[in-house]
Amino acid sequence: MSDAAADLRAMIAAYWKPHAICAAARLGLADALGDASLDAATLAAKIDADAANLERFLRALASIGIVLDKGDGTFALTEMGQRLRADHAESLRGMARHVGTQLSPSFAQLTECVAKGRPPEGIAYGTQGFDDLNDDAKAAAIFNQAMVDSSRRFAAEAVQAYDVTGFASFADIGGGHGMVLAELLKAAPDATGFVLDLPHAEEGAKALFARQGVADRARFVGGSFFDPITHAADCYMLKYILHDWDDEHARQIIRRVGAAARDHGATVLLIERILPETVQERGDHAIAMYGDMTMMLWNGRERTKAQFEQLLAEGDLVLTRTAALSDNHYVIEALSN
Ligand SMILES: C[S@@+](CC[C@H](N)C(=O)[O-])C[C@H]1O[C@@H](n2cnc3c(N)ncnc32)[C@H](O)[C@@H]1O
Repeated sequence: MSDAAADLRAMIAAYWKPHAICAAARLGLADALGDASLDAATLAAKIDADAANLERFLRALASIGIVLDKGDGTFALTEMGQRLRADHAESLRGMARHVGTQLSPSFAQLTECVAKGRPPEGIAYGTQGFDDLNDDAKAAAIFNQAMVDSSRRFAAEAVQAYDVTGFASFADIGGGHGMVLAELLKAAPDATGFVLDLPHAEEGAKALFARQGVADRARFVGGSFFDPITHAADCYMLKYILHDWDDEHARQIIRRVGAAARDHGATVLLIERILPETVQERGDHAIAMYGDMTMMLWNGRERTKAQFEQLLAEGDLVLTRTAALSDNHYVIEALSN
């Protein structure tokens, strides 16, 4: 067999790995294993699973480095597997549950999306579905925790790459549970801030502010970024907001943010991926394009730097600076024109 065929076969078959990781997260397998070494029957009793199938599943997870098969009938978490625990400082359990239940079903409809030029019917949690999260507490919990998992990392990187200590107040627009705001407030210890988001995020945001020790400086404001933003701040932060929306909706949001920034002499910061102008066969480009395919299925889009400049101009904003984070993510600074 040629290398090209072997590489393609490997990529075609690779789909099972994220499914297996997401299933492990949904079963709560890592939380139940903790720091112990357990056999399949003991673990099955803890997570209410079928012992025989669980044993086969654990052996499969051992083949991709999520658990270690200790050879005596017991299994333990590896360093990667530890990160599927809810209580791990670098936990990705929320992200895995989100991908397994909310993102991967949409990827089954990629063919139709590309052929028809629009998001597939029945994607429950796409951009039309943010309001649905207000009526579905379970889905909202999964979605919001995934955003916390993502934001824990990128917000921590952002405050290293971009100095926020000069700001006295922050607005985390569409901030969800407010992980980004919490990191901003920890980096600027005298500042205050608020998250503006839909009602589904309120309870979780208040709980996160308390856990992160910023409850006395952070508040939640219920509202929509499609309406005028009347609350003042020195810095309006939008992480993963513009990428959720097609150009028409993104323009509406940036006009609201641009108006607020002008009214209050504020800085606008985005945390987003910036797509390469020319895509190469590279790991970091593949991660960026994964983001764009995800957003295409949800009626949003990732953008190039030139596309961000164009969009920001709609809000009378000029892109003044970018600061690189990992995986093609950037802090994008914009000021009123
Ligand atoms: C992809 S999430 C990003 C969350 C957060 N910025 C983060 O990165 O952790 C998009 C957020 O936009 C919020 N959102 C959607 N429509 C909104 C609207 N009309 N007004 C305010 N927030 C909205 C969602 O509820 C969700 O929390």
